[in-house]
Amino acid sequence: MQPAKRAQDLPPLFFATLAKRIAALQAEGAKIIRLDAGSPDLPPDTRIIEALKHSADDPTKHNYGGYAGSPQLRQAIIDYYGQRFGVELDDSELVPLIGSKEGIANMHLAWLDPGDLSLIPDPCYPTYYFSPMLVGAQSERFDLLPERGWLPDFSAIPTETAKAARMMWLNYPNNPTGGTATLDFFAEAVDFCRQYDILLCHDAPYADVTYDGHRAPSILQVPEAKEVAIEFNSLSKTYSLAGWRAGMAVGNPIAVKALATIKTQVDSGLPKPIQDMAVDALVGDQSWLVPRNEIYLERRDLCLETIRTMGLETTTPKGGLYIWFQTPPGFTSMEFHTQLLEKAHVSVTPGDMYGDNGEGWMRISLVAPTDQLKVAMARMEEVMNKG
Ligand SMILES: Cc1ncc(COP(=O)(O)O)c(C=O)c1O
Repeated sequence: MQPAKRAQDLPPLFFATLAKRIAALQAEGAKIIRLDAGSPDLPPDTRIIEALKHSADDPTKHNYGGYAGSPQLRQAIIDYYGQRFGVELDDSELVPLIGSKEGIANMHLAWLDPGDLSLIPDPCYPTYYFSPMLVGAQSERFDLLPERGWLPDFSAIPTETAKAARMMWLNYPNNPTGGTATLDFFAEAVDFCRQYDILLCHDAPYADVTYDGHRAPSILQVPEAKEVAIEFNSLSKTYSLAGWRAGMAVGNPIAVKALATIKTQVDSGLPKPIQDMAVDALVGDQSWLVPRNEIYLERRDLCLETIRTMGLETTTPKGGLYIWFQTPPGFTSMEFHTQLLEKAHVSVTPGDMYGDNGEGWMRISLVAPTDQLKVAMARMEEVMNKG
């Protein structure tokens, strides 16, 4: 029996391999502190879970949720974009998603033919890199560098590459670097993609996990952005609902329609109780996000302080769930990851899994209680001091 070449070529997902290693260490009695995946530990507002439970108790909600989602969910997405970003959407400009990851992968099926080119950041969320492989397309990287605040320099992309590209991915607040974007930067991105007729995919799952007063813009706030841009958004991080799988893609109606068409052949829509939950999350009271973000902020500052005390380079993220810092001299990312896991029982992510520019960097997820983070930082310092 032979699986398809694409299944054979796809390397195992780092987090899947890591889970096995952690399970083996735990079986030996190790108490591992998990600061690797970006799965929020803080709960959503109880009101949102009440909406989910209430809906799950309704016997009319067990059937298929419908490809387009309920009229209430569609309206909630329109209202959310209006209230949060001042962006007007009409009904042809949105598609509900079962979390944004499937939308990102399916967008490649909807937009790229075999051999087509996608431009992706280095470093980046790995799905932008693996999805082109699933459809026989290519990807080419452009640099995100600390000296540019983790924003790309579009003028550094060779003209021939830009002409060949069919899609481009951006993601702010950024995973893994913590970089944030301004509306002026998004305007530059829209101009670039308009010039070369590229579908601009902006991935914004961290739009409301922000600090120090940063208010993350939507790319659709750029006038005329919808001519070339589609934005992916998610309830996973903003509303701490990662396991309940809900998200949306909004913007360019041609891209939205293509994505929705592919999805009708791939899935059967969001479960109705999750749709009802999403309505409550998107248009209900948003004030609980403020104290929630203050907890992440406290964690962020705790980690930054330890990292800087250890003499390691880092930047202060104004958004997202991550600290991105340089490995100590003498270690590759993977070596330092292994050292921390095996000796300190602290699991952080090696930067090289986000691209070549991630080599020499590590990512800490701020998704463990503050007291555990303190223990993790102390163990990390100990490993560094002992070598
Ligand atoms: C940049 C980015 N995009 C998309 C996702 C996927 O989120 P979800 O599928 O839970 O909506 C993640 C998750 O870590 C992410 O970091």
